[in-house]
Amino acid sequence: MSANPTTVHLSSHVRGEIDHWVEKFPEGRQRSAVIAALHAAQHENNGYLTPDIMNAIADYLGMPPIQVYEVAAFYSMFETKPVGKHSISVCTNISCMLRGGDEIAQHVEARLGIKTGQSTVDGKFYMKREEECLAACCGAPMMMVDHVYYENLTTEKVDEILDGIE
Ligand code: FES
Repeated sequence: MSANPTTVHLSSHVRGEIDHWVEKFPEGRQRSAVIAALHAAQHENNGYLTPDIMNAIADYLGMPPIQVYEVAAFYSMFETKPVGKHSISVCTNISCMLRGGDEIAQHVEARLGIKTGQSTVDGKFYMKREEECLAACCGAPMMMVDHVYYENLTTEKVDEILDGIE
């Protein structure tokens, strides 16, 4: 283990998740588990990562913190600033746009009282961005909530989906 500066400790759940993935890689290649580690830690921290959490992961995996920051900054599935717990991305690219994607995005914004790029004040939802095609064009219009696809949307379906999220 390295001695990276960190003031947080990873939970036993996150450590267990990391250990599970470390076992899948050859001896000495534990840093390959960094994506799984970031994913588990982000989920547990209500949808975003902090420098302290990333430092703790670096410490646990015995890697320089900068390499953990680089991975977190590179992949769009990681958030490195405080955002709402549930991430929403509405696709407004051509297939979705032709089938009402813009109206879906506007409906989500109006319903949550935020604009794309913002989080609700209660910290529950984050309208991450308008997507440029998530390869689900045959189900247009669609949106992704916490990496789950919802297709053939109507405003009524959007309401049901959002109502069903804890
Ligand atoms: S254009 Fe929306 S999923 Fe392809």
